[in-house]
Amino acid sequence: MAKIPVVLDCDPGHDDAVALVLAASVCDLVAVTTLAGNVGLAHTTRNALGLVQLLELDVPVHSGAAGPLTGVGVADASHVHGESGLEGATFPATLSVTVSSDDAVGHLIDTARAVDGLWVVATGPLTNVAQAMQRDPGFAARLGGIAIMGGGTFGNVTPVAEFNVHYDPEAAAVVLGSDAGIPVLMCGLDLTHQVLVSDELVAQVAALPNRFGPFAAGFLGAYLANVRARTGSDHDAALHDPCAVLALTHPELFEMRARHVSVETTGSLTRGMTVVDRRPWTKGGNVQWAERIDAPAALDVIVAAIAAAP
Ligand code: BDR
Ligand code: CA
Repeated sequence: MAKIPVVLDCDPGHDDAVALVLAASVCDLVAVTTLAGNVGLAHTTRNALGLVQLLELDVPVHSGAAGPLTGVGVADASHVHGESGLEGATFPATLSVTVSSDDAVGHLIDTARAVDGLWVVATGPLTNVAQAMQRDPGFAARLGGIAIMGGGTFGNVTPVAEFNVHYDPEAAAVVLGSDAGIPVLMCGLDLTHQVLVSDELVAQVAALPNRFGPFAAGFLGAYLANVRARTGSDHDAALHDPCAVLALTHPELFEMRARHVSVETTGSLTRGMTVVDRRPWTKGGNVQWAERIDAPAALDVIVAAIAAAP
């Protein structure tokens, strides 16, 4: 079956890095667009370029938003992903792959015109996607759909707000408020906390005979250590972003339901919260909300993608 054409809009980020290697394997990855989120734009873009180089991909990288729509600074996630955004990974000091443009938004718009059935998989804040919708009101309707890692019925930045939505709630509100009539798949924390990086997974990936396996084990081990230090526990760490890729390419692994999801942008306690209508009697919704995933099968697909890399 033909692979689905995808632009990965991301802020790598350990789990974004796994989403990238996965998308390169199971999708027709036509471009990577970057934005600030986990760390600043220069770092997320360099990490994307380094990964594209290491994976020997012929895929352009376009950098985008350096901050949220409001322009007001917000805390990053360097305590989880390290100062570089990809602690545990070392790229060559000089990369041969360079950025194709600093207009990710323009590239998203152009690619949606050029590629039939293009999907955007968004694994960072939704700033680039929202700006594409604002710059070109016909953008969303030209897409096959959007798959998002973001939101949840609980939070990880505040008690109720997940990082990607909390970083740019106005952007998330634009995207979820779009009435383009295209499918929107949404993997929130309720779903992504079912897919875990464990010591066993790190060891399995480290033992792969290719170059990328031990490389990925290096950064996944750092991610796991950071999450454990942050939470003061020996729990495993959620592997959020690849879930948004799998929701598109492997829907048979998911239980999804149409739900109404909106974003709180004003509450003094609840800014960045996704309000998910789970009342049993409400019908329909603006997103397909991912509720459950077959985690062992999902991890098998992810490990196979890492194993298929150079
Ligand atoms: C999301 O926030 C980031 O730290 C991760 O890369 C993921 O996209 C999880 O809340
Ligand atoms: Ca991310």
